[in-house]
Amino acid sequence: MKVLGIETSCDETACGIVEDGTRLLSNVVFSSIDLHKAFGGVVPEIAARSHIEVIIPVIEQSLEQALCTWDDIDAIAVTYGAGLGGSLLIGVMTARTLAIAKRKPLYAINHVEAHIYANFLTKTGNRKQLTTDSYQLRDSAPEFPMLGLIVSGGHTQLVLWQDHFDYTLLGQTRDDAVGEAFDKVAKIIGLPYPGGPSISKTAEAGDPHAYTLPKAKLDSPYEFSFSGLKTAVLRLAQKEIGQSHDFPSHEVAEELSERQRVNIAASFQHVAVATLVNATKIAFEQYQPKSIVIGGGVAANSELRRQLSSQLPLPIEYQDIRLMTDNGAMVATLGCYHVLKNQPEADPKTLGIEPNLSM
Ligand code: KG4
Ligand code: ZN
Repeated sequence: MKVLGIETSCDETACGIVEDGTRLLSNVVFSSIDLHKAFGGVVPEIAARSHIEVIIPVIEQSLEQALCTWDDIDAIAVTYGAGLGGSLLIGVMTARTLAIAKRKPLYAINHVEAHIYANFLTKTGNRKQLTTDSYQLRDSAPEFPMLGLIVSGGHTQLVLWQDHFDYTLLGQTRDDAVGEAFDKVAKIIGLPYPGGPSISKTAEAGDPHAYTLPKAKLDSPYEFSFSGLKTAVLRLAQKEIGQSHDFPSHEVAEELSERQRVNIAASFQHVAVATLVNATKIAFEQYQPKSIVIGGGVAANSELRRQLSSQLPLPIEYQDIRLMTDNGAMVATLGCYHVLKNQPEADPKTLGIEPNLSM
């Protein structure tokens, strides 16, 4: 059973095809990130326009890569939330149209849940395929109960699954997502967008204990807050350059010395990552899951991987990074389980978007 998944929730126009929820047949991702760099973040209107331009070629390429025609596809899955309204609309309208025109069942997918489902694609499940052979896939699918940490530019959540479609949201961020905090801090200290990779790289030369930054104290151990940390970085940088609170944030970067910049990057990263790892560790101890899985772009962070492996007794198997950042294969994978577990189909005449969809 093959499902074609469409993803357009942010700046990636993506389409992937997955068989039986484990075999990756294709994964085509077009990112409009270069168009947003000059603005220091994703511009929703530019992202939506780019989706319109490339969505059809991306879908066609995905079919080609999977050596499939529409006759081979059993169902279409599409991200309907959470995400940017204009962006989601392009994917959903395309999927609705294709579902009607090609007479395929349609499934509405939660983007955040899909991030975790990328972990169900496995090596053993993979059959020889021209272009997906180079993927470093997991050896086996995660087992339930499964603890999922979702860390991206839009989400920071800890979720516990007892089984497919049987999950509890343990906690999430109250304000900024962790990736967003990386992006905002990078901007303050003068590093390029996206901030995650640039902070991670810069931090290698810095001392993570050079500065003490605050960890948010919240009622639940599974809740996160990163906006205070971002403000603390701004205040620290202002202080370091001998300026007061009202010194404009966009002028701070040029006054920082290289040493200050690398030390702030390292100290920020250390605290942001420790917050995530601490919550994951507490959840692990409380719920004793059989597996821990990670999804989202921040999972690429080497400090996060280092701290997780030193703090958790259970080794984490990381999925290929191309499947952890936004992609269509994760949507197709979750779509497969919608089919396999008889989840309700979406109505191709009426499916709407839900920009604020939660788990
Ligand atoms: O999952 P993703 O590609 O898109 C969203 O759904 O948001 O995640 C993008 C986020 C950005 O905020 C980016 O700065 C962050 O992931 N990111 C990283 C790293 N690589 C990407 N954050 C920390 N360290 C990295 N190496
Ligand atoms: Zn995402």
